[in-house]
Amino acid sequence: MSRRLVVNVDHVATVRQARGVHDPEPVTAASLALLGGANGIVVHLREDRRHIQDRDVRLIRQIVHGYYCLEMAPTPEMVKVAIEVRPTSVTLVPERREELTTEGGLDVRTNATKIAEIARAFDEARVRLCLFIDPDLEQVKSAHRVGAGAVEIHTGRYAEGGPATQDEFNKICDAARLAAKLRLEVGVGHGLDYANVEPLVAVREIEEFSIGHSIVARAIFVGMERAVAEMKAIVG
Ligand code: PXP
Repeated sequence: MSRRLVVNVDHVATVRQARGVHDPEPVTAASLALLGGANGIVVHLREDRRHIQDRDVRLIRQIVHGYYCLEMAPTPEMVKVAIEVRPTSVTLVPERREELTTEGGLDVRTNATKIAEIARAFDEARVRLCLFIDPDLEQVKSAHRVGAGAVEIHTGRYAEGGPATQDEFNKICDAARLAAKLRLEVGVGHGLDYANVEPLVAVREIEEFSIGHSIVARAIFVGMERAVAEMKAIVG
């Protein structure tokens, strides 16, 4: 089975924002990632606009004719942007201003009413809704109940390594199996690199890998096309 490698280009914007200039352009990175074999592009428009800007979201929409995913917090402002831009898919993530990066999954159970309302809006707009959740069976069931079409299972704790790695891997497998049984599409993401992604490739329920940092880090040395091609060769 061929899997989707969806490349996150946020960190290209991080470098640009560090200087407040024009370069490097995330839209150029997105083009090169597609040439390198990426099956799609993902960006996270954060409420504080620390990396990706609104114009990036729109520019990338114009050059990605296939799969384009927008990550965002479940807020009315972001829902409005997404409905205007109409990506292929929206991934809802929790957001805290002080965090360095997304630190955990959404609590779908506690926020079920709000998320179900957002799910209805995206259903009408024909945008697939994916929920970024921890590898937790109750969260998978809640994602199904609120009407999501997909889940992205948080692999951050698995990727940290250490003694909990096997346990986290097992939890990811269990969550992926249940999600697939409930006919949710299954993705994984956060902290995945060229080594730790391999065991997940063997999990047949996982259809999508959402990867940013490790690819952009390698691209600094070998170029974006090659960094993406090397990851695509692993993901299959
Ligand atoms: N998936 C989600 C929901 C994320 O928030 C991020 C980070 O923006 C990623 C995947 C990619 O994580 P990484 O940059 O560690 O590969």
